[in-house]
Amino acid sequence: SIVLMNGEFIPREEAKVDIEDRGYQFGDGIYEVIRVYNGKMFTATQHLERLQTSGEKININITYTVQNLTVLLEELIHRNSLHTGIIYMQFTRGESPRNHAYPIETVPPTFVAYTKELERPVTSLENGVSSITVEDIRWSRCDIKSLNLLGNVMAKQKAVEADCYESIQYRELTVTEGSSSNIWIVKDEVVQTHEANSFILNGITRRKIVDVCQRREITIKEKAFSIEELIDADEVFLSSTTAEVMPIVAINNVPVGSGEVGIITRKLQNYFKEEIF
Ligand code: PDD
Repeated sequence: SIVLMNGEFIPREEAKVDIEDRGYQFGDGIYEVIRVYNGKMFTATQHLERLQTSGEKININITYTVQNLTVLLEELIHRNSLHTGIIYMQFTRGESPRNHAYPIETVPPTFVAYTKELERPVTSLENGVSSITVEDIRWSRCDIKSLNLLGNVMAKQKAVEADCYESIQYRELTVTEGSSSNIWIVKDEVVQTHEANSFILNGITRRKIVDVCQRREITIKEKAFSIEELIDADEVFLSSTTAEVMPIVAINNVPVGSGEVGIITRKLQNYFKEEIF
């Protein structure tokens, strides 16, 4: 396959990173995952703008404009004949002798992007998935889409060990988000998700769902909810670029509501699909 490295298209085997790259040593970098349906990127501008914002928040200077990046990523899709899948891309703070402090500003970021074929998770979308709750042990800048994912990795591993699809994280008694997704509840026909602050990543899928709710006159509350409200919800679902609107039908081995995929979740899935196709 062909990857994009520092602006050049090269075979994957030729793409090499230095042992003193700051992404490798410190997780000092940012990333995005963009969905590709029928050879076209979905919500690319929003992803690339979030990438710029993540960069600004940690002073990594992305020298490409959203427009530049769009052209390069379209070319990458074309060169790999990608139909349904994702683009993964990351910028690190570059190569520099190991030192916690940032290197001088002339060190260029290391930029890598590649494609991967990935079908829509149709079976899970149809039947729903199970989940567990875990304590959110991450830092307090989860709004940055940082390469530093150790807390998320550990949370996901707990889900896998419990034969579940996702971990629902909580701080004190408040639900924050999944290990790689945003979490939603539906109670008495009101849809609710954590407000976009520094305790969660403001998902692009999340924003799309908020927008769809507003357009379709479904009541939406962007406000944190408790573990108790989660357990007591009529419906629960998660959202992400790869998982779309994914029903959660069990939490800690207890069925959510009736244990079936909820009516509003199903509606939102269909509305979301209309945005894609
Ligand atoms: N994960 N919260 C976290 C912690 C995430 O890692 C993600 C995405 C989301 C959802 O964001 P979006 O709707 O923009 O994909 C929320 C990506 C897909 C990943 O790391 O693979």
